[in-house]
This record gives sequence, C-alpha cells and structure tokens, in this order.
Amino acid sequence: MTTDVTNQLRDRIRSAFPALAGGTVFLENAGGSQVPAVVADRVRDYMVSSYVQLGAGYPLSHKATAVVDEAHDFVRLLFNGSDGEVILGPSTSALLQMLANSYAKVLTPGDEIVVAQIGHEANVGPWTKLAALGIEIKWWKMDTDDFTSPLGRLDELLSERTALVAFPHVSNLLGEIMDVAGATEMAHRAGARVVVDGVAYAPHRALDVAAWEVDFYAYSTYKVYGPHMAAMWASRGALAELQGPNHFFIPDTELPYKFELGGACHEACAGVLGLRDYLAMLAGVGESCALDRAAVERAFEIMAACELPLQARLVAYLASRPDVRIIGPAHGGPSRVGTVSFVHESKTSREITEVVDGSGIAIRHGHMYAYHLCEALGRDVDDGVVRVSLVHYNTIEEIDRLIEVLDRALGTV
Ligand SMILES: Cc1ncc(COP(=O)(O)O)c(C=O)c1O
Repeated sequence: MTTDVTNQLRDRIRSAFPALAGGTVFLENAGGSQVPAVVADRVRDYMVSSYVQLGAGYPLSHKATAVVDEAHDFVRLLFNGSDGEVILGPSTSALLQMLANSYAKVLTPGDEIVVAQIGHEANVGPWTKLAALGIEIKWWKMDTDDFTSPLGRLDELLSERTALVAFPHVSNLLGEIMDVAGATEMAHRAGARVVVDGVAYAPHRALDVAAWEVDFYAYSTYKVYGPHMAAMWASRGALAELQGPNHFFIPDTELPYKFELGGACHEACAGVLGLRDYLAMLAGVGESCALDRAAVERAFEIMAACELPLQARLVAYLASRPDVRIIGPAHGGPSRVGTVSFVHESKTSREITEVVDGSGIAIRHGHMYAYHLCEALGRDVDDGVVRVSLVHYNTIEEIDRLIEVLDRALGTV
C-alpha cells in the first residue's frame, strides 16, 4: 500500500477524537473504538432538535424519518451493497440471533450448518443452538500450528445438505484476514448461503459485499468509530427465503423494517452519519453528503496506511521474544489487521494485563467470546490470550510505550 499520510493529517485524525486527549492509550479497540466529536455532536443535535417518532405527518417527524433513512443509505454505501438491504439493530449478536431464529423456521432436520471454530460466539452460538431442531453442525476447524482455517477443510465439510456456512472475516483474536470471496464461492457451489461476521474487519478496511458476493455480512458500528449499534447487509435473494420477525401486519415486502423488530435506535442512526463527516474529512471530500464509494475506499486506505507500520512494530517485538507465542500470524503486512494476541510461556495472561492496566494503557486478556478458538489452544479458556488491538488513530509512540511496559511485565529474556 503506497498511501502517504502526512503529519498534518495524523494531527487532524488525533484531534478529531476528543477522548484521545484524555491520557489513556487505547489499545483495546477490538472491544470498541472511540468516536470523533462529529459523531457525538450528531447524536446530541438529533436528541435536542428532532427526537420524535418516525412516520407521522408533521415536519419534525419527516426530519427524524429522513435521518434514519439516510443512515441506512450511508451504511449501504459503506457495505458497497446497493442491491441489498441494510438491517440495523442493537448489536451484531442480536442481529445474528434474529437471523438464526428466522432460519429455524425454514430449515429441516438433517440440514447442515458449517460453523468456523475461530468465530466469535455471536456467529457460533445462534447456529449451534439449532442442533436442538435436528440441524447437523459441522465444525470448520483451525489448524492449531499456524492458526489458519484452510479452505480445503471447508470444502471437505460441504454437502448437498449444507444450508449455511458461518465464519468471520477476521477472528477477533487472530487478526488474519480470511479469503471471504473464496469461501463464499465454495459455499455457493454447494448451494449454501454464507453468514460473515465482519466485526473485526470493518474498523480497518473498506467493506465490499458486491466483490465478495456474500449473502449476509454483519458488523458493529460501535467498533467503527460510531455509536452502539450494528448493521447487517443481506442480499435480496437470501432475504426472500426468510420471514422477518416484525409484527404480523407489516408485510414481508416491507424491507428492511420486517427484520428490524422495534426499529433501529434513532439517535445512533444520527451518530452513524457523523462517521460520514469523518470519512469525508479523511478522504479530503469537502461536503460530507458528496462522499461516494471512491472516497470511502480512499478513507479506509488512509486508515490502513496509518495502521500498518504500527502493527509491524508490535508484531516484530513480540516475534523477537522467545518466551512469547503470537496467537495468529507472526508477521505484519496487509494480510492481517492490527489485532494481535499472544501468550507467554510461564506468565498467565492476567498477570501480564495487570501490569499493563496500571500504566495508562488499555489492553485486555481472556477468550473475548472466541471461546471455541481458545479451547482449541488447550489453555485455560478464561485466562485466554493477551490481546492488543490498534486502529488508525493510534501512534507509533503509543506502541513504543506499550513495548516498554511489556518488557517490564514479561521480564528480560
Ligand atoms: C468478531 C466479533 N464478532 C461479533 C461481536 C459481537 O458484537 P456485538 O457486541 O455488536 O454483539 C464481537 C464483539 O466483540 C466481535 O469481536
């Protein structure tokens, strides 16, 4: 990637996020990211100026309805999914559970679902619970030596009974970017639909459901510099096979509302539009509403260019320590994101984060809901791994500060 990021742009990025001035080094971004001031401002503006219900005839209601519609349109642009539906909901966990509940009504005993072992429980549990209905669950296991989930293993699991394949674009522990288009093509050849958890990918690179040809793709807006909400893109063909959970008098054709039980959080929709302002700033587009697909891609290229040197420094440090095992690819580069997990040969993950927690640097340890992945590691699942997760607003100085603290926490080798 050759995108140059000037120091001036780096300063603008940092100053767009008020929380970054507070002294905490945020390296737990895979848990949730900080928001630019424009996101918080949009939430506040909406709540103090047009906090009314949608769909009534008075002007303020028109205004509120337009905000929610605009949020769907903007998120559709983020997905690059002009020919599908954007369903907004409280969380990715809730959206995927809702999707599984819809599938529960159309699947029949003997149908099969392939579930990636490296998945976050949000895209595992809703499917494995369907075993109670006679659905057969097949595990797409990772290779515990190199932490990959080879496509060859997926291929062996597919059959004419496979209805769905559920997998993450990036594991929230491993950081490696999976071949979504390859896995999707393989699943489609078997006649199966795919449900991709893009939560750990979306903060780092531009989404492109059109290129990947997926059926369902979900991510959490609160991890992509926005308010606490989530979005799922669904192809119209896949959605047409299901019945949404919304009230009986709402027609099946009323999309996405049929799948948005209770509607989306209105103020969060307003906040999501603040991300459009922020991406426009990054991409150098004057007017936020002029943000087009090329500008979205440009904004995410800038984010990736900011992240790559940071993840390279962190991974190189961890790889240089013989007492540490990186859980995931032990290299930097564009095939991974800046979510880097590791374990130590003698110290528990808790012992390590306890030292780091006291130094003003936010990281985390545990299984982080990638429960089956941690089980496969053969360690204490609750102690799990230490995870450092950086995004574009972090700095090389912050990584160096972390490395200094880790030197203390891990001891000299
Ligand atoms: C990879 C991944 N998938 C799904 C989720 C669940 O997202 P939500 O909190 O929106 O339910 C998370 C949350 O950490 C995650 O990291």
